[in-house]
Amino acid sequence: MADTLTITDNRTGKTYEIPVQDGAIKAMDLRQIKTGADDFGLMTYDPAFQNTAACRSKITYIDGDKGVLLYRGYPIEQLAEQSTFIETAYLILFGELPTKSQLESWTREITLHTMLHENVKKFMEGFQYDAHPMGIMLSTVGCLSTIYADAKRIGEEDNRRLQIRRLIAKVPTIAAWAYRHSIGRPYVYPDNDLSFTGNFLNMLFKMTELKYTPSPVLARALDILFILHADHEQNCSTSVMRGIGSSQADPYSALAGAAGALAGPLHGGANEAVLRMLNEIGNISRVPDFITRVKAGEGRLMGFGHRVYKSYDPRARIIKQTADEVFEVTGKSPLLDIALELERIALEDEYFVSRKLYPNVDFYSGLIYQAMGFPVAMFPVLFAIPRTAGWLAQWDEMLRDSDQKIARPRQIYTGAATRPYVTIDKR
Ligand code: ACO
Repeated sequence: MADTLTITDNRTGKTYEIPVQDGAIKAMDLRQIKTGADDFGLMTYDPAFQNTAACRSKITYIDGDKGVLLYRGYPIEQLAEQSTFIETAYLILFGELPTKSQLESWTREITLHTMLHENVKKFMEGFQYDAHPMGIMLSTVGCLSTIYADAKRIGEEDNRRLQIRRLIAKVPTIAAWAYRHSIGRPYVYPDNDLSFTGNFLNMLFKMTELKYTPSPVLARALDILFILHADHEQNCSTSVMRGIGSSQADPYSALAGAAGALAGPLHGGANEAVLRMLNEIGNISRVPDFITRVKAGEGRLMGFGHRVYKSYDPRARIIKQTADEVFEVTGKSPLLDIALELERIALEDEYFVSRKLYPNVDFYSGLIYQAMGFPVAMFPVLFAIPRTAGWLAQWDEMLRDSDQKIARPRQIYTGAATRPYVTIDKR
């Protein structure tokens, strides 16, 4: 029997056979369902895209019920244990793990692009002394579109590859300089002898020493966090990246927009919100009272819940292990006990259990970042660095997809019917 959905329209008595492919019907197939010649045709109403697939993608697979996350088929747990961020970025972008020589040349290419034009430095110096680093970062990424005018040629594959390398290499430099700016310290130039995360730590924390030596434990912890955050299929910021990219804007403009979406507290800003929440709770004895207030609807338990995961976020589990390794070097965060107690109570409480609310990736990442010496305002910036690889992979995939056009949702108009203009003296 053909894979179809039979729809009978009770308004007209007509029956339609709608093909079902990959567990979905094409929304455009509903357009033929009309009550008359001047009817526009049936639409679907799906605010926040809770049940609409906007693309076909080969990059990331999530099974939210089982807590599975795969990049190009590889389980996140294996990548976190055995891969590096640079290798994972290659995998996400190009579909396969690199050979030894491919990895060497990819690493070299990224390393060669870590410098920023001095005009970009001047641009960053112009920000207010207390500017939020996420605002600095996303504006500076947007500014790069004025430096690399060639990026507009998005139809040329080689050109897209060049911009991808530039962005993956330069976003950490921008992020580190945004941090240095916010604490009033001179910007540190990249050290290309170091690893991707080792160099990032150098640009963040180098003082007067001639050569910065990153802690291997912290560099590896950051690498793991970057692997975990590299992509997460069609989330809010990725949809923005694809949405802006669909108008054929250059990738710097699209990525600045995606970073703007990531900045919100319900998305990449959540780890910042978690830390603020833990500080506000302040003491383990106040946890039960806080949970009571959350259940009464007075705020949310930040770092809990996810649109897709309805079980333990697999990334949260890996981060919890990484946190223990980091705390051995940095000392334990005084907020860890509050976080553990929140998790313990929430995982037993009927309110959270019945709503399938579990810790997400951001519940513990903030504690690690804080232990490493980052202020909370830097947390979303730290998220944006690895997600740059995911955004670019999704952007590139979208541009190659012949099904895609400029993104343009429909609406159901609920405003006033046509009415004549009223002059101001008659209102
Ligand atoms: N604390 C308390 N209650 C919650 C929470 C929470 N963190 N999250 C959801 N709920 C409740 C809602 O109040 C709602 O209850 P109701 O059915 O009684 O009205 C129910 O659970 C469903 O919540 P929705 O908001 O409909 O779920 P949605 O899928 O739209 O939201 C989101 C997902 C935004 C992540 C939400 O869980 C949330 O706000 N979490 C806190 C913020 C956070 O940690 N964000 C990071 C997400 S991960 C990332 O972006 C990397």
